[in-house]
Amino acid sequence: MSTVSPLIAGNWKMNGLTHSLDELSELARLLTTGESPRALVVVCPPATLLAAVAAQGASSGIIAGGQDCHREPHGAHTGDISASMLADAGAQYVIVGHSERRTNHGETDQIVCAKAEAAIGAGLKPIICVGETEAQRDAAEAESVVSAQLAASIPDAAEHHEVVVAYEPVWAIGTGRTPTLDEIDEMHNAIRARLVDRFGLSKGESIRILYGGSLKPQNAREILGIGNVNGGLVGGASLLAKDFYTIISAV
Ligand code: 13P
Repeated sequence: MSTVSPLIAGNWKMNGLTHSLDELSELARLLTTGESPRALVVVCPPATLLAAVAAQGASSGIIAGGQDCHREPHGAHTGDISASMLADAGAQYVIVGHSERRTNHGETDQIVCAKAEAAIGAGLKPIICVGETEAQRDAAEAESVVSAQLAASIPDAAEHHEVVVAYEPVWAIGTGRTPTLDEIDEMHNAIRARLVDRFGLSKGESIRILYGGSLKPQNAREILGIGNVNGGLVGGASLLAKDFYTIISAV
C-alpha cells in the first residue's frame, strides 16, 4: 500500500469574488488554531483570486493552485493563461484535464498531456484528472476508460517530476452521488497498478491519487480512509471554510 502523504485540494471552479477571501481567512484560522492538519492543503481559486490566495494563504500553509493552463508558454491566445503566469502569481499546483474542461472545451487526452507538460516546464505540479461517465460505468468500461486516459494524459516527464492524479467519476461531480467504497478502492488500486507498470515501483507508489466527486464532510472519513486514496479534490464543499476544514481534518 502506498504511504505517500495526503493532499486535499479545493477546486472553487467559477466561484469566488474578493469577499470570498474571508472564507480563506476563516480556513487559515481553523488550520492554525486547530490540530495541525495531516494533509497538504491546496486551494485552486479562479485565476482572478490566485495571487491573493497565494499571498494570504502562505502564513497558514495553504498552497495556491490554478484550475487550468494553456499548453503554450506564451503567445497569441486571447483569454488563456500559461503555466508560467500561474507560477508567477504564486501557484504551485495546477489542475489539468478536469472533466468540465474535457466536456466544455473539447480537451482530449493529448491536449491534457501537453498542458501537464507545460505545467511541469513552469515548475508547477499538475493534478491530472481522469474519470468515466455514467454510461461507461454501466457498460463495465470504467477501468479501461480510466486506464486509457492515464496512459495518454500523463506525460513521460512525470518520471522525474511530481504529478498528482485525481480520479473523478464524471457522474459523481456535483451530484451528491459517489461510487461505493469498494468501487473507489478497486479503481484506485487499478490506477496504482497502471502507475507502477509505467513508472516502476518506487515512482509509481509515490504518485498521489486523489478522489473527487461529491466528497463531503459526511463521507470524507470513510473515503479518505481507503488504502490507495491519498487525498481528495473537493468542489462544492471547498467553498465553505468549515466544510473544507472538516474534510481536511478527516484525513
Ligand atoms: P464536487 O465536490 O462539487 O462534486 O466537485 C468535484 C470536482 O469536480 C472537483 O474538481
